[in-house]
Amino acid sequence: LKKVSVQLKERSYNILIGAGLIQESGRLLKRLGLCGAAVVITNKRLLHLYGKPLGTSLRKHGFGLRFITVPDSERAKSSGVATGILNKIASADHGGSVFLVALGGGVVGDLTGFIASIYKRGVPYVQIPTTLLAQVDSSIGGKTAIDLPSAKNLAGSFYQPKIVISDVSVLKSLPKRRLISAMAEIIKYGIIKDRKLFEYIETNCSKIQRGHKLALEHVITEASRIKAGIVSKDERDNKGLRIILNYGHTAGHAIEAASSYAGKYDHGESVSVGMLIAVDIAREMHIINLRDAGKMAALIKKCGLPSKVKGISLAKVYSSLLHDKKFTGGRNRFVLPVGIGKIKVVEGVPVNIIKQAISGHIA
Ligand SMILES: NC(=O)c1ccc[n+]([C@@H]2O[C@H](COP(=O)([O-])OP(=O)(O)OC[C@H]3O[C@@H](n4cnc5c(N)ncnc54)[C@H](O)[C@@H]3O)[C@@H](O)[C@H]2O)c1
Ligand SMILES: [Zn+2]
Repeated sequence: LKKVSVQLKERSYNILIGAGLIQESGRLLKRLGLCGAAVVITNKRLLHLYGKPLGTSLRKHGFGLRFITVPDSERAKSSGVATGILNKIASADHGGSVFLVALGGGVVGDLTGFIASIYKRGVPYVQIPTTLLAQVDSSIGGKTAIDLPSAKNLAGSFYQPKIVISDVSVLKSLPKRRLISAMAEIIKYGIIKDRKLFEYIETNCSKIQRGHKLALEHVITEASRIKAGIVSKDERDNKGLRIILNYGHTAGHAIEAASSYAGKYDHGESVSVGMLIAVDIAREMHIINLRDAGKMAALIKKCGLPSKVKGISLAKVYSSLLHDKKFTGGRNRFVLPVGIGKIKVVEGVPVNIIKQAISGHIA
């Protein structure tokens, strides 16, 4: 069992990482001082896979229990689904204490955190992330959201969970493509802050892909430590420190958006190509150590992540890029790598350099 803490004064909390933690959740929540009824928000697939061990553990420690299931996709992050859940919680609420439990990936986590932040102006909630992406990213930091028809994540709040329980055992049921794609985010953490983590992935990439529990536990712990450290210094994303977490995401989001109809490249895969586009921009601007640049490209390949996208036009990617909020005000802003473990925020990258870097990654 590993522990990382997010330091935010009275809103501080721990992230626990280990195998078999779901079975321990009742005891862990009791120890935190939570009481009353647990409303677990999840989807049918996860209810079927992990509802029983979670429910048994919660009941054993005296918690009331109710499961609410939501659709299994981004569709669940909607105002309609959120209102439906609020009404369900309210109709079963007879005045005792209630807290929410998010059992699922980033979709369930973002939605549950959002509902917890507004029901009765805030009830406690707990994150039990079940995807590798949610364990290393979305469950940490208290950004909650639902989507509106005009944009993703447009309505939301900053609302920290009471604890994050990352049970690495649940990753065994995750499709391999999702496990690999979330590795892009872990490589990202290595590049922005931690050469040791980067080198660990270089050595243990195939172990991680095979679901080796100790290797997963190690990378999830190190990734969580980095995100927790940044969030602890910039809780509400208004000091400019969280921007480094966007490494690879500027071009990445544009690729994701440009391929969104085909659903061809998911978030992690798009970020993987986005990171390599940033490497090429950095190379063109002479700010990157070339040996490290080579290692970055090699690691992405080794992990089975894409370095190029197919079937998407430069024009489409570039126009999505112009809609990025980091591009408002005319001056663009990129997080660029200087070397493994070190990045730099650069403003006003020449358009021809950006376009050239993007087209180099379109097959
Ligand atoms: N709040 C934040 O800081 C933050 C950060 C990054 C991403 N996000 C959000 O996270 C969401 C994406 O999260 P995601 O990638 O986890 O996707 P997801 O929540 O949609 O889950 C992906 C799929 O995997 C399934 N699944 C989940 N756990 C499983 C398991 N253990 N075994 C088998 N199947 C499982 C789910 O049912 C779903 O079909 C997006 O909505 C994004 O906006 C939020
Ligand atoms: Zn991301």
